[in-house]
Amino acid sequence: MDKMLIRGGRPLRGTTTVSGSKNAALPILMASLLTSEPVVLHNVPRLRDVRTAISLLEGLGAKARWLDEHSLELHAAQVTGYEASYDLVKTMRASFVVLGPILARTGRARVSTPGGCAIGARPVNLHIGGLRALGARIQLRNGYVEARAEHLTGARLWLDNPSVGATENIMMAAALGQGHTTIENAAREPEVQDLGRLLVAMGARITGTGTHVIAIEGVARLHGAEHRVIPDRIEAGSLMVAAAITGGDVVVENAPVEQLDAVITKLRETGVNVTAQNGGLRVVADGALQPIELRTLPYPGFPTDLQAQMMALLTQAAGTSVITETIFENRFMHAQELLRMGADIVMKGATAVVRGPARLSGAPVMATDLRASMGLILAGLAADQETAVSRVYHLDRGYEALDQKLQALGAAIERVAE
Ligand code: UD1
Repeated sequence: MDKMLIRGGRPLRGTTTVSGSKNAALPILMASLLTSEPVVLHNVPRLRDVRTAISLLEGLGAKARWLDEHSLELHAAQVTGYEASYDLVKTMRASFVVLGPILARTGRARVSTPGGCAIGARPVNLHIGGLRALGARIQLRNGYVEARAEHLTGARLWLDNPSVGATENIMMAAALGQGHTTIENAAREPEVQDLGRLLVAMGARITGTGTHVIAIEGVARLHGAEHRVIPDRIEAGSLMVAAAITGGDVVVENAPVEQLDAVITKLRETGVNVTAQNGGLRVVADGALQPIELRTLPYPGFPTDLQAQMMALLTQAAGTSVITETIFENRFMHAQELLRMGADIVMKGATAVVRGPARLSGAPVMATDLRASMGLILAGLAADQETAVSRVYHLDRGYEALDQKLQALGAAIERVAE
């Protein structure tokens, strides 16, 4: 297993580019099962999670072919399988959104439940409730969700909370169903909107993505399409924090500016200068950072996937910051490791109080999930001496060529075999 060695204290400078969105790409890859015609996708990030999704699709009978570095053709002429195994779903929870597409295409699906996860319980009740409302017969047996439906029929449903994955699963199933479906209290995330755009390009009749009410008129068949995946707003935000925490000056090209309102607002509150430039964002940090209050919320609120990165940044702010995590329980695992690097953080339930500025010193650290790992990399960029972040496979799941991107901005970061 590899680890990242970081020697902190260098301000990052220069220009970097954001890759395609992981969280948009994954459900979009699954959507290729909904048609027997080829689907061509551009701006697909080369990530471990994308490879996992491709293996899953290949296991179900789809053919996958890279046309160039970031363009992928998927062709599910026939879907020969109907199962996603525990081994697969436990390594990548997002594979659970394959349930809706397999069921809609073949009438039968068997998908492992994801089980516990490093950032909390993460149940799938809303996915199951939604598919049941569309007429699927669902049983939970041996840790698997077993679903059958000769045809899915439209229904009016309301989600207890605006789950991204449940909204996507239901949208894909209903798109190939019969009749009219409305999803109320749907997730509004840009990744849901991107999936909606692909489905519409495939012939689906979907309106309202990006709002709380999504309407779907089922169609009998969907056809092939070509689609460009949106840029990754979480990667963009992470690179912006990298500039901020090192007192740097970085242009983040291809950043989806309009999806980053909450992030830009909060970074500006810390005193960082963020301006639009060259179809992206320039982030300049040249003074003391101010403490802030931060609350993670569903989109367009501040994303939970940038909470760990902001916590690293706020260890450097002069005063007391308060972070409240409202999406996932147990998503402060990175705080324990930041404490070991010298941060002053007190946690109580869903709230973390961060006092700064703390003098961070390099240490061997490890993280339990993707975004937490990024938080530790960022802390390493601001720390004295050497930080070694192990379990790099978490980073490989969701950040494309992270070490190269940071090196190009002047960071002393190196990937080494453990
Ligand atoms: C997606 C993102 C993840 C992000 C999260 C929240 C992907 C691949 N992953 O995850 O990076 O952190 O959105 O923005 O896009 N819930 C239930 N029952 C369900 C489903 C969810 O109670 O059936 C709860 C979850 O436990 C959690 C909340 O709803 O507390 C939000 O989860 P959800 O939006 O479903 O997240 P994911 O789709 O898993």
